[in-house]
Amino acid sequence: MTGSSVPSPADDAIARWGKPPAAPVQDAAEVHVWRASLDRTPEEIEAFRHLLSPDELRRAERFVFEVHRHRFIAGRGCLRSILARYLAIAPADVAFDYGPQDKPQLAAGHATGQPLHFNLAHSDALALFAVTGIGAIGVDLEQIRPDCPAEQIARHFFSDNEVDRLGRLPSEERATAFFHCWARKEAFIKAKGVGLSLPLDQFDVTLAPGEPASLTRTAWDPGEAAQWSLRSLDAGPGFAAALAVRGHGYRLRCWQFERTAGGEAAR
Ligand SMILES: CC(C)(COP(=O)(O)OP(=O)(O)OC[C@H]1O[C@@H](n2cnc3c(N)ncnc32)[C@H](O)[C@@H]1OP(=O)(O)O)[C@@H](O)C(=O)NCCC(=O)NCCS
Repeated sequence: MTGSSVPSPADDAIARWGKPPAAPVQDAAEVHVWRASLDRTPEEIEAFRHLLSPDELRRAERFVFEVHRHRFIAGRGCLRSILARYLAIAPADVAFDYGPQDKPQLAAGHATGQPLHFNLAHSDALALFAVTGIGAIGVDLEQIRPDCPAEQIARHFFSDNEVDRLGRLPSEERATAFFHCWARKEAFIKAKGVGLSLPLDQFDVTLAPGEPASLTRTAWDPGEAAQWSLRSLDAGPGFAAALAVRGHGYRLRCWQFERTAGGEAAR
C-alpha cells in the first residue's frame, strides 16, 4: 500500500485474496481458489522439488529454460501443499491420476468421503488453484496482452456469436474482452477435462466488459449450459481469470498461498 488511505485498484485486487485457514475444510457449498506466485527463492524451489513424484520430476527436467522448470516445480509443489491441507497428509503423499486428456485428479487411493475436485492454471509467474467438493471444476488464467491480434485469433477459434459481439465493442475494449472470453472458454473445457479436443467454437460465453460471466449455449446439448456456473476472478492487474463449476449457488472464498518457513515438507 502507498501512504494514501484510498486503495489503488491493484491494492484492492490483492486485498481480496485473504489469509487461508491452516486446515481448510472441503465443503459441498463452497469453492476455494488459492493464488500463488511461482517465482520462489532457490531454497523454496529445492524444498518443493522434494515433494514431487518421479514422473513430475521427469516432466520438470524436460523444460529447456530454468525459469520454466522452476515455475513448474513451484506449481506442483503448491498444488501438493494445498491439497495436503484438505487431506491432512504430507504433500509428498498426495498421489494423482490423469484423465484421457491429462486432467489431473486425486488417485483413487485417497479416501475423501466425497470427491475433492481441483484444477490449476498458470500464466507467467502467477498460478491459481481451485478446489471444491461440489463437482467438476476448471480454472484459467491469462495475461492480458494489449498487442495481441485478438480479432484474428477470435475468428479462428471463437463461435460466430462471440466473434460478432467482440467486433461490436469499442476497439479499445476488444483486447481485454478477448482475454476474458478466452479464460471463460478454457475454464469450461478444463472443467470438462476434454482439452482442446472440444472445439472452442462449439459453445458461447459472455464477453462484454461488465457483463456477468456465463455459459450461454453449447452446440451439442440444449440443457448443458444451465448445469454450469461461470464467473470471473480478479487475479490482479493485467490478468483475466475465470472459474467454471458444474453446479450453482456456491460461496467463493479466495486465499493467497504463502509457504511458511519450515514449510509443508515438514508436515
Ligand atoms: C488443458 C489445456 C487446455 C490447458 O492449457 P494451458 O492454457 O496451456 O495451461 P493452463 O495453465 O491453463 O493449465 C495447465 C494445467 O491444467 C491442468 N490440465 C492439464 N490437462 C488438463 C485437462 N485436459 N483438463 C483440465 N486441466 C488440465 C494441469 O494441471 C496443468 O498444469 P501442470 O501441467 O503444471 O500440472 C491444455 O493443456 C490441453 O488442451 N491439454 C490437453 C492435452 C491432451 O489432449 N492430451 C492428450 C494426450 S493423449
